[in-house]
Amino acid sequence: MMSKLWTELKVGNMTLPHRLAMAPMTRSRALADGVPGELAAEYYGQRAGLGLIISEGTQPSDDGQGYINSPGIYTEAHIEGWKNITSRVHEEGGHIFIQLMHVM
Ligand SMILES: Cc1cc2nc3c(=O)[nH]c(=O)nc-3n(C[C@H](O)[C@H](O)[C@H](O)COP(=O)(O)O)c2cc1C
Repeated sequence: MMSKLWTELKVGNMTLPHRLAMAPMTRSRALADGVPGELAAEYYGQRAGLGLIISEGTQPSDDGQGYINSPGIYTEAHIEGWKNITSRVHEEGGHIFIQLMHVM
């Protein structure tokens, strides 16, 4: 069983290098307007060695925000912030899914 941990796994069109994934964890580090900034890109980039990262819960609309400084993905600025994050993770050879979280 353990010997499989370090073997590749195909998920959709991705081939993960091993079977360790990162669970979603709210970090409360987005900017006040919900943009995931440089700190978030650094955070996720540092963890790109995981086979797959599931992002922190991210609100898809303004009325879906449940926690202070959680990131959004519904404005152009949010999307640019996430592109910066995904580029960083991909540059480091990692894979990342976003977790959409509508709290209210
Ligand atoms: C600081 C912190 C933030 C978390 N944020 C999220 C989140 O945004 N979305 C989610 O689905 N789970 C969240 N979780 C739950 C973790 O994903 C969960 O603890 C992890 O999957 C391990 O599962 P367990 O706590 O049942 O052992 C969070 C957990 C912690 C400790």
